[in-house]
Amino acid sequence: MKGVVILDFGSQYTQLIQRRIRELGAYSEILPYNAPLEEIKEKALAIVLSGGPDNVYNENAPLCDREIFNLGIPILGICYGLQLMTYVLGGDVAKGERMEYGPAYLVKDTDDVIFEGIDLKKPVWMSHKDKVRSLPSGFIGIAHTENSPYAIIRSYDARIYGLQFHPEVVHTEEGKKFLRNFIFKVAGLKKNWDMENYLEVLKFEIKNKVRDGNVLLALSGGVDSSTLAFLLKEALGEKRVYPVFIDTGLLKYGQVERIKNYFGMFGNLVIVEKSDVFFKKLEKVVDPEEKRKIIGKTFIDIFTDVAEELKGKVKLEFLAQGTLYPDVIESGMQRGPAKTIKSHHNVGGLPEKLGFKLLEPFRLLFKDEVRQIGSLLGVPRELLWQHPFPGPGFAVRIIGEVRRERVEKLRKIDKILDEVLKESGWYDRIWQALAVLLSDKSVGVRGDERSYDEVCALRMVESEDGMTCDFVRIPYSILSELSRRILNEVEGVSRVVYDISTKPPATIEWE
Ligand code: XMP
Repeated sequence: MKGVVILDFGSQYTQLIQRRIRELGAYSEILPYNAPLEEIKEKALAIVLSGGPDNVYNENAPLCDREIFNLGIPILGICYGLQLMTYVLGGDVAKGERMEYGPAYLVKDTDDVIFEGIDLKKPVWMSHKDKVRSLPSGFIGIAHTENSPYAIIRSYDARIYGLQFHPEVVHTEEGKKFLRNFIFKVAGLKKNWDMENYLEVLKFEIKNKVRDGNVLLALSGGVDSSTLAFLLKEALGEKRVYPVFIDTGLLKYGQVERIKNYFGMFGNLVIVEKSDVFFKKLEKVVDPEEKRKIIGKTFIDIFTDVAEELKGKVKLEFLAQGTLYPDVIESGMQRGPAKTIKSHHNVGGLPEKLGFKLLEPFRLLFKDEVRQIGSLLGVPRELLWQHPFPGPGFAVRIIGEVRRERVEKLRKIDKILDEVLKESGWYDRIWQALAVLLSDKSVGVRGDERSYDEVCALRMVESEDGMTCDFVRIPYSILSELSRRILNEVEGVSRVVYDISTKPPATIEWE
C-alpha cells in the first residue's frame, strides 16, 4: 500500500506523527532514516522527515540520501527534519544562543496553502536548540517566530516544506491542520485509510495466505487476541481456528467462564488448566524478573505440548498472534540497544520451534485501531474496552511469594475494584486500574481484637499508550467506597493505600 513514508531519525514523536496522519485518513508507514531509496520510491506518495535528538552537523548524525530531494516526491521536514534538509541541501544550521522549548507564535511572511484554515493566534510547540541561519538556494522562509527566523520554510516549487515546531503534539493546537494541508493540498493525496476498507483487506489477506490450512491461536482473552479470534472466525469460519487458552491460575476472577462464554462458538477451543504447575514453579520465588521468566517459559512449554498434540491430530500450519505495530517498530529499527526494564512475556519463539508460519494481521495497527476493527467485527464491549492485563497476571501484582491463597485474596480485591469503577462510570475513563498486594503487614483493630494483616495498594492511571502515565485524580468518594468494601469483604487485609506515582520514574505495574 502506498502512502506517507516517515523516515525516522530517532524522535520520541515519530509514532505520533504516524497516528496523526492515519487519523487524517492517509496510510502511513515508518521506515528507518537510512532505508534504501528503492523502497522509499516504491512506498511513498509523500515523505516526512521526523525529528531527532542529534545535531545535523555532528560527525555521526543520521543523514538521509540527498537523492531523496530529487525524486519529485513531496517532502515535509519536522524539527530535525527541517534542519536536515537545510544542511543537506547547502544551507547553514548552527547552535542557537538559547534553547527554544514550549509555546511560540507564528508570524506569516507570505501567504501559502500550508496556512489554510489555520488560526495563527494559537501556539505551536517548539523543542530545539539548533537554528537555521541561512536557507539553501531555492528555498524561502514563509513564517517566523520571535526566536526562529525560519519557523516554516518552503522550496520555490512548493513541493518541499520544513516546520521547526512539532505539528504532531497536542500542544500545537492547529498541528493536525498543518499535516492535513501538507498531505492533501501540497502532496495531493486522496484519503486511502479507513478501517472498514482495511478490515476487508485483512480478511482477504488471511484467506489468501491460509488457503485451506488451519490456524492455532494463543487466546488470552485480552483486547488483541479476542479481536483476532473474531477476525479469524470471519475470514476462515470457526472450524478452522484452534484457540488455546491456558489457565495459569494467575488470572482475573471469572476469566475462564468469560472465555467459555465468548469463545464457546469455536468448536475447537482448548482450555488447559495448569495452575498447579505455575504455583509449584513459583514457590519461594520473590524476584520480579525471575517470576516473569519462569511464567514465560512455563507458558511456552505448556503451549508447545498442546500444539504438538494438536498437530498430531490436525494439519496446523499457522500460528496467529496479535502483534501490534509498536512492537514491530521497536524490534525492526536500527536504534541503540534498548534497556530491558521488564521482560514482557509472549509466545515469540514458538514458530521456529514448531515450524509454524506466522499470521500477524495487526502488525501495522495501533491499539486504538485494533479496537476500531474489533467494534466493526462486533467484539463484545466487555472484551474490547477492558483494561490491559499483563501476561504474568497477578504474579507481578503480588510482592513477595506468589501463593494460591494470596492470589485468591488479590482476585477478590480486583473484583471489587472492577465493580466499583464500573458501577460509578469511572472504568471507561481510566486507562488501567489495578490492585497490588504488598509484602509488609500492618497492624489494625477489628472489634476489640488486634489484627496484623496484609496491605493493598490501588493504582489507577491515565495514559495514551502505557509508555508514560499519570495517576487518576479519582474522587475521594470512590476511594472511600473501595476502602470500605475491601476492608469489610476481604479477609486478611488491614489497610488500603492509593498509589500517586507517575511513569516515569515509576512503572504502571509494581513488579
Ligand atoms: P509497566 O509496568 O511496564 O507496564 O509500566 C506498561 C503496560 O504493560 C503492561 N505489562 C505487561 N503486559 N506482559 C504483558 O502482556 C507483561 O509481562 C507485562 N508487564 C506489564 C502493564 O499492565 C501496562 O499496561
